[in-house]
Order: sequence, then structure tokens, then C-alpha cells
Amino acid sequence: MMNLTILGANSDVAMATARRFAQSKMISSLCLASRDLELLERNANDIQVRYDIPVKAVVFNALDYTSHARFYQQLDPKPDIVVLAFGLLGDQQNAQSSFEEAHRIIDSNFSGAVSILEVVAADFERRRQGIIIGISSVAGERGRQSNYIYGASKAALTAYLSGLRNRLFKSQVHVLTVLPGFINTKMNRHLQLPGLLTASPDDVANDIFKAYLKSKNLIYTLWFWRWIMAIIKSIPEPFFKKMSL
Ligand SMILES: NC(=O)c1ccc[n+]([C@@H]2O[C@H](COP(=O)([O-])OP(=O)(O)OC[C@H]3O[C@@H](n4cnc5c(N)ncnc54)[C@H](OP(=O)(O)O)[C@@H]3O)[C@@H](O)[C@H]2O)c1
Repeated sequence: MMNLTILGANSDVAMATARRFAQSKMISSLCLASRDLELLERNANDIQVRYDIPVKAVVFNALDYTSHARFYQQLDPKPDIVVLAFGLLGDQQNAQSSFEEAHRIIDSNFSGAVSILEVVAADFERRRQGIIIGISSVAGERGRQSNYIYGASKAALTAYLSGLRNRLFKSQVHVLTVLPGFINTKMNRHLQLPGLLTASPDDVANDIFKAYLKSKNLIYTLWFWRWIMAIIKSIPEPFFKKMSL
């Protein structure tokens, strides 16, 4: 039985993933970590009652780097699986004129992930066990004018997870990279998403759980994003730069 910790647990995808693992009866405890403790406690209570497993709610802020070692130290029991779910879409237009906004996007998606995952990785490496599941994005596969700052931060996260997987392989620690396309969550409630291409948080959670069972290295979710991104990546730059994407 495994102990699962979810970072950025108030995310819609994180909550669906928590429920999917709890439902499987393969975890013995769950730790939900995020900024809004009140909401977190309601979510924790709901899962505990529904699935009859111990669930803790703990404050975690991805941008408070100096707190990360302490945050990890206080986790008891220590996790066997860590899901990194936090992320920030931010405002691309605003980020073009305000470096403060650009910085917030980069730090929320990338610097915060590096800061906490290095702490997790050191512990997993020492214990020679553990699974890290990092939620990045297909937006990191190719920069587009509509969200290239978010996309660049996710590209950095994807490259980071690849390197981490390579480093930790010899310590029997596994890293799964998750590349979702559109998901119907609070992150993009203000956007008009194409229905046929848009997953629900439960769809994504199911894909993550299946990938975990099969020890996959990297998945696209939903599955067809692998092929959509293969096409998008294959468009030559002289054409790509003229497109409104
Ligand atoms: N939705 C999509 O279409 C889509 C597509 C591709 C990838 N993704 C990725 O999937 C992951 C889950 O996102 P989602 O769609 O479930 O969005 P979401 O519901 O908006 O969740 C994002 C979560 O990140 C948390 N967060 C942001 N900054 C944080 C910080 N500094 N410290 C701690 N937590 C922080 C937020 O916490 P608060 O509740 O405290 O604000 C929020 O709960 C993200 O990494 C996202 O980039 C989403």
C-alpha cells in the first residue's frame, strides 16, 4: 500500500486524481497540499468519508521556496507517490507588458516545481523507491502567440521531468510526465474550448491512473493529442510563424 501526496491539490484535475487513487484501494493514506486550507479541508473530508482512507490537508505554496524543505520534513508518513498538479495559466497579454506577470507564470509552473521536486527526489533517491507524477502540458510542445509564456514554462517543466527521470532511474524511482490538452477546469473557465477535444478532469485522472499502473514514462491525455502535437510540431517555421494560433 502506498502513501500519496498531491501538490496543488485544489486543482480540479488533482481532486479527480485523488478520488481515482482512493477508489482503487491501492493507497493507504492521502495528503492534499495547496494554498487554500479551508477548501482543502472540505475536499479532504469528502474523500475520507467517501473512500474510508485517512486524508490530511496541509498548506503548501509553490512560490514559497524556503518553506519547501520544512513542508516535506513534516509529512508523516512520507509519500511513495507525489503528484505535482499546481500550475498557472496566467494572462499572456498582460505578461507581454508586465514582467511581474510573466515571472509569476514561469515561477508557478517551473521554479516552484524544481524547488519542491528536488526535495522529493533527494528523499526518494535515498530510499531507492518512489513515483513522481508531473502534470505539464501540450502547450510546452511548441510556442504559440496566444500563450507562449505559459507554454515556455511548461516546456521547461517537461525537459526538467525528463532529466529527473533519467537521473532517478538507477535508484528505482519512476517519473511519469503527463501532457494534457484541453481540460474543462476552473483554469480555463473564461475560455471557449472545443467540445470534442476537451477532456473532463475525470478522463485525465483515469489516464493518469492507467499510466501509473503501466509505469509509463510520458503520456498525452486525451490520447489523440500525441497526433495533434505531432502535426503541429511538423509544420515548418516559415509557415508556422504566419499562422494565428
Ligand atoms: N485545464 C487545462 O486545460 C490544462 C491543460 C494542460 C495542462 N494543465 C495543467 O494541469 C494542472 C492542473 O490544472 P487544472 O486544469 O486542474 O487547473 P486548476 O483547477 O486551475 O488548478 C490549478 C491549481 O494550481 C494551484 N496553484 C497555483 N499556484 C499555486 C501555488 N503557488 N502554490 C500552490 N498551488 C498553486 C491552484 O491553487 P489555488 O486553488 O490555491 O489557486 C489551483 O488549485 C496544471 O499544472 C495545469 O497547468 C491544464
